[in-house]
Amino acid sequence: MKYSIIGFGKIGQALAKAFARSGIEVCVATTREPESFASAAAAIGPKIIPQTLAEAVKADIIFLAVRFESHKDVAKALPSWKGKTIVDVTNAYGVPPEELGGQPSSKVVAQAFTGGSLVKGFNHLVAAILEQDPAVQGGRRVVFLASDDDGAAAEIGALAENLGFSPIKLGGLSEGGLLVQARGNSWGELIFKNLVKFD
Ligand SMILES: NC(=O)c1ccc[n+]([C@@H]2O[C@H](COP(=O)([O-])OP(=O)(O)OC[C@H]3O[C@@H](n4cnc5c(N)ncnc54)[C@H](OP(=O)(O)O)[C@@H]3O)[C@@H](O)[C@H]2O)c1
Repeated sequence: MKYSIIGFGKIGQALAKAFARSGIEVCVATTREPESFASAAAAIGPKIIPQTLAEAVKADIIFLAVRFESHKDVAKALPSWKGKTIVDVTNAYGVPPEELGGQPSSKVVAQAFTGGSLVKGFNHLVAAILEQDPAVQGGRRVVFLASDDDGAAAEIGALAENLGFSPIKLGGLSEGGLLVQARGNSWGELIFKNLVKFD
């Protein structure tokens, strides 16, 4: 199983730290040449592999850690995403719902990644929290997962556990998933509670 993270900003680097902590190799990519962020990757750990976008999308499980608006550009990297699981970490905060045809943002992302399976998740924690060891106070920090594909949700749940998190499955993208999706200028209820707690 090969993993990649597309986007190596605040949230991409936080995810890379979780992979490094767990000793799992992961490729990271941006729009830039890998050499330009190689030192940042090396600073996180030897198993964080900088790659071009074209190489990184060959992975089986791909974390989408770019701004919501950039998801379409990433989706163009492959004609079909069949056989791949995309973990949508984006938050479409401030994007008018009418621009999304009234759909949850993750549905819009899922449609762009034709043929792939999409799991919404890892998006409710701010990067400064996500990058920390999730083993806290004798428990494990949770990540919420939502998907219309039960198999993909189970696959990402198992990965979340390997990364040290405790996954909580919320059901489909349009139901439980809405609890963790920003909509217009409001946050999904579970994200909002988290922001209140940590801000
Ligand atoms: N920051 C948080 O605390 C937080 C928490 C939860 C969720 N999120 C969500 O996570 C996503 C990323 O947020 P962030 O704060 O990490 O943003 P960021 O710091 O601005 O990083 C965005 C990254 O995406 C890359 N990128 C942009 N367009 C790309 C493309 N077409 N192909 C490949 N890479 C591309 C950028 O690299 P280059 O432009 O250099 O190529 C950069 O590495 C957003 O959707 C945000 O809502 C953020």
